[in-house]
Amino acid sequence: MGKIDGKVAIVTGAARGIGKSIAERLAKEGADIVLCDILEEVDATAKEIEKLGVRTLAVRVDITKIEEVEDLFTRTIEAFSKVDILINNAGITRDNLIIRMSEAEWDSVIAVNLKGSFNCLKAASKIMMKQRQGKIVNISSVVGVMGNAGQANYSASKGGVISLTKSAAKELAARGITVNAVAPGYIETEMTKVLPEKAIDAFMNIIPLKRGGKPEDIANAVSFLVSEDADYITGQVLHVDGGMVM
Ligand SMILES: NC(=O)c1ccc[n+]([C@@H]2O[C@H](COP(=O)([O-])OP(=O)(O)OC[C@H]3O[C@@H](n4cnc5c(N)ncnc54)[C@H](O)[C@@H]3O)[C@@H](O)[C@H]2O)c1
Repeated sequence: MGKIDGKVAIVTGAARGIGKSIAERLAKEGADIVLCDILEEVDATAKEIEKLGVRTLAVRVDITKIEEVEDLFTRTIEAFSKVDILINNAGITRDNLIIRMSEAEWDSVIAVNLKGSFNCLKAASKIMMKQRQGKIVNISSVVGVMGNAGQANYSASKGGVISLTKSAAKELAARGITVNAVAPGYIETEMTKVLPEKAIDAFMNIIPLKRGGKPEDIANAVSFLVSEDADYITGQVLHVDGGMVM
């Protein structure tokens, strides 16, 4: 028997990378999964996950658009009647030095990473408050805690996600809803594939475990936070980073 048998989980940015890995892991633990992404690939990922013996729903959504997010939750309720778990994972980078950073680079990163997370958290809260239970996990980043040259937009958005997590944890606790964040370090995905070797070396130098992490490392942490084992944990930031930030 899985740890979250019969639960319904929404995972944003689930087409690939860390989101796909989280969706797979929660399916293995017994949850039905709603996969949302802007990418067409989300359909194929959902079919793959269905083979694990759970029900899935793939929805093409841009989480920056409130109407699309509301539609995602309406469709989830139509299909599965409830939402037990929300994983706010979708995110983007548009790296640049501050003096060269365009308004579009700033706005798009804040829109997806911070506002997108808020949109989904708000829609989930309405349902979870009525249910008087729910678990929300927001994917932040180590740079949301320590900052990073060339990523002012991204680190500000991820720092914002941590404050959003704490405020939501305080607001929703009385209704039996927990809200936590996971702060990944350097994880090997499409997002980090594009980094220059120099940037990767710089990360390796400050990782005590001297290696990058895998999407599964993040999925392991998320799987704990959405399980009953974490019922008394809320408003926390769990670093999964080989010791980079401590
Ligand atoms: N890879 C890392 O080292 C690392 C480190 C720290 C934090 N993170 C965070 O982990 C999360 C997943 O990152 P990843 O490495 O798997 O990257 P990724 O680019 O492989 O996956 C991100 C997914 O989000 C989707 N997405 C982007 N904008 C969207 C939107 N507007 N609406 C819906 N979906 C959207 C993308 O299509 C993609 O499938 C992100 O929030 C990222 O910031 C990653």
